[in-house]
Amino acid sequence: MKQSCLSIQGVSKRFGLYTALQHVSFAVSQREFVCLLGPSGCGKSTLLRILAGLEQPTTGRIVLNGQDITARPPAERGIAMMFQSYALFPNLTTAQNIAFGLREKKWTRTAIREKVTEVLAMVDLEQAADKYPAQLSGGQQQRVALARAIALAPEVLLLDEPLSALDAKVRQKLRREIRRLHEETGMTTIMVTHDQDEALTMADKIVVMDHGEVVQIGTPEDVYNRPGSPFVADFIGAINFFEGSRFGGLLPDENALLAIRPEHVRLLDHDSECGIPAVVESVEFRGSFYRLFLHLLDGQESSFPLRLTIDLPATMPQRMMVKLNQKVLLELPLEKLLVFERDAWKGTG
Ligand SMILES: Nc1ncnc2c1ncn2[C@@H]1O[C@H](COP(=O)(O)OP(=O)(O)OP(=O)(O)O)[C@@H](O)[C@H]1O
Ligand SMILES: [Mg+2]
Repeated sequence: MKQSCLSIQGVSKRFGLYTALQHVSFAVSQREFVCLLGPSGCGKSTLLRILAGLEQPTTGRIVLNGQDITARPPAERGIAMMFQSYALFPNLTTAQNIAFGLREKKWTRTAIREKVTEVLAMVDLEQAADKYPAQLSGGQQQRVALARAIALAPEVLLLDEPLSALDAKVRQKLRREIRRLHEETGMTTIMVTHDQDEALTMADKIVVMDHGEVVQIGTPEDVYNRPGSPFVADFIGAINFFEGSRFGGLLPDENALLAIRPEHVRLLDHDSECGIPAVVESVEFRGSFYRLFLHLLDGQESSFPLRLTIDLPATMPQRMMVKLNQKVLLELPLEKLLVFERDAWKGTG
């Protein structure tokens, strides 16, 4: 049984009249990797700053290993933070930036040199040890900031969008590096991202936020397969929404709002007796799959779009492959349908 390490209890934060966080509560287990996921401005960085002690909550408490640390200064929390906008010392080299916190902790010169070498290798920046921040690219600076945060081996590591400035390849690599690092060091990690792929691939647990509130907490599989609201379904992964009444009789709940992921829509053989007729409007090649945008042919009036997005594996047999303007027959497997209350729809765009 994992111990609860960090507990966020009823945290709210107001800036004047604006409420940035509203009754945020969740627990983080020791060695857990948690991603805070949500749209821009939903309060992710504010929550991280409160955990780091850089900001005081208006109400609520932060409890670490059973101790209320809400009022404790940042340096005495055993929590390290890497900021969204990397804040390196411009007058110090890469190596000196990383060594800074270690010096303050009175590490020996040898231990510092070893640690700096180790973390520089981890972020692939051995060549940049003697360069100043101004001589590094944005992505490189971000990796130095990451190295600096992990050098101190904090109990809790807070990462605010550590990968957002990096190109796709480096990003993939660093995702695995951070995850490996997290496992090797035994740190508890909380990472902010607004990238759903990053959250799905890296997290043990995802905390989805919207407008300063926690809207769902679960494993990546939970939030993807069993989203608790249309907002979560739409924010994480691609999704089609439609009214239950749209396919008259074919679907279980005529009053509900239904949804299905593109990869769950099935293409039926051309000579099938049933199925929902549609026409292929456009096709996007996505590497391992094709994403098709279809126009339904049932012609009903509806407040929801008559369009449907479906994904087909690129490895599909050639004879099954569809072309532009081709007519197809679709099946929406009942067991894959997500059902929401009608009024849960807020129009997430
Ligand atoms: N010091 C402050 N004073 C006033 N308002 C603030 C302050 N800090 C943050 N806010 C507001 O609180 C809200 C949440 O900000 P926050 O930086 O936490 O969002 P975020 O989820 O990190 O967004 P992003 O993904 O864009 O980084 C925003 O509307 C922001 O303008
Ligand atoms: Mg932020």
